Amino acid sequence: MAAVVAAAADLSLIAYGDVVAGCEQCALSQTRTQVVFGSGSPTAELMFVGEAPGFHEDKQGVPFVGAAGKLLGKLLEGIGMTRDDVYVSNVLKCRPPGNRDPLPEEIQACEGHLFRQIELIQPKLVATLGNFATKLLSGKPAGITQVHGREQQVVLGGNPVTLYPIFHPAAALYTPRMLQVLEEDFRRIPELLGREAAPPPPPAAPLYAPEPAAPVEHPVQLGLF
Ligand code: URA
Repeated sequence: MAAVVAAAADLSLIAYGDVVAGCEQCALSQTRTQVVFGSGSPTAELMFVGEAPGFHEDKQGVPFVGAAGKLLGKLLEGIGMTRDDVYVSNVLKCRPPGNRDPLPEEIQACEGHLFRQIELIQPKLVATLGNFATKLLSGKPAGITQVHGREQQVVLGGNPVTLYPIFHPAAALYTPRMLQVLEEDFRRIPELLGREAAPPPPPAAPLYAPEPAAPVEHPVQLGLF
C-alpha cells in the first residue's frame, strides 16, 4: 500500500515538474539552461528548501550538486540519512544570472511552484536553508541569524508543518563558526522528525598520513629561539 501511495505521489510530482519545465512566468526563463525543479523522495518526511540554482545546478538540472550540495550530503550522512531519504528544492527554480540574489518579483512569480511541491510531498519537517527560504516560508521578516535552530509550527500547502530554519550550507563553507552552528542545528533533525538519533559517525580518516620524520644528520640551528 505504501508503495502504491509513493508511486502515485511520484507521478503527481513528475507531472507537475513537467509543467514547471516550461515555465515562463519571469525573465529568468530567458537566461536559464533549464528549470531545476527538485530532487529526492516524493514522499519525504524531510524537505530542504534553498535559495536558487547556481552554475552547476543550472547545467545539470539538479539542486545542490556543487560544493554546498556536497556539504549538505555530508551533514545528512552525519545524521544517518542520504539525499534519497529527503526532498531538496529551492525558492527559485531557475538560476539568477551570476548567482545574484533573487528579486522580489522572481520570488513572487515562483513561490506557487514551491507551495505546490510542499502540498504534493506533504513533508513533516521543512528545513529552510538561509534567509530567502526562511522569510518566504515563515512569512516573517526575521533573518536566519536570529531564528536559526528554532522550529516553528506553520501551515504550508494546506498541511501543518514544522518549519526549521538553518544556515545555508554555502554560507558555512568558508566560515568555520557558521559550520559549527549548522552542524549543531542539523543534529536536532532526528528529534524533530520523531526518530532515534543516528549513532555518531566514526572519526574521519586523516586526509594524509604524515611521513615519519627523517633522521637529522647535521642539525642546523635555524635561529628560531
Ligand atoms: N544554493 C542553493 O540555494 N540552491 C542550490 O541548488 C545550489 C546552491
